[in-house]
Amino acid sequence: MSIVERQPPLDATERAAIAELIAHYPTARAAAIDSLKYVQQRRRYVSDGTLHEVAHLLGMSAAELDEVATFYNLIYRKPVGEKVILLCDSISCWITGRDQLAAHIHQRLGIRQGETTADGRFTLLPIVCLGDCDHAPVMMVGDTLHGNVDTAALDAIFQPAESDTP
Ligand code: FES
Repeated sequence: MSIVERQPPLDATERAAIAELIAHYPTARAAAIDSLKYVQQRRRYVSDGTLHEVAHLLGMSAAELDEVATFYNLIYRKPVGEKVILLCDSISCWITGRDQLAAHIHQRLGIRQGETTADGRFTLLPIVCLGDCDHAPVMMVGDTLHGNVDTAALDAIFQPAESDTP
């Protein structure tokens, strides 16, 4: 689906919050990840325009901040849905069936990796090891970690969202 890719300039609240984050560190650039997380929490993702503004506040170039954002794979640089499904694609999860889960998500929500549902509720993205390999396969939906996921668990996870639909 097409999600609006433009974001408004940072408002006074956002600028003040970033200034406060910067104040907690010895250097402004040390607040880079916290600042990116903050704007993402407010705006779901960090557009190019927002990245430029945040970089300016941190005394960094946009390219430097983009490198930080790219390295930290939980910062989204493209529009995402209301909730991001992060499906681990590292070895333990791959062996225990993450591809079957991806197929089931496609069947259930109609999205493949990198796509967002037509109603804008979910985006499916791959991610490297989530650090819970003992419970593989593992995924995150929004802020919630789910382990030992199977297709029945997926159905239960997505059931509330579907039954919310008017
Ligand atoms: S390999 Fe998936 S959580 Fe570690």
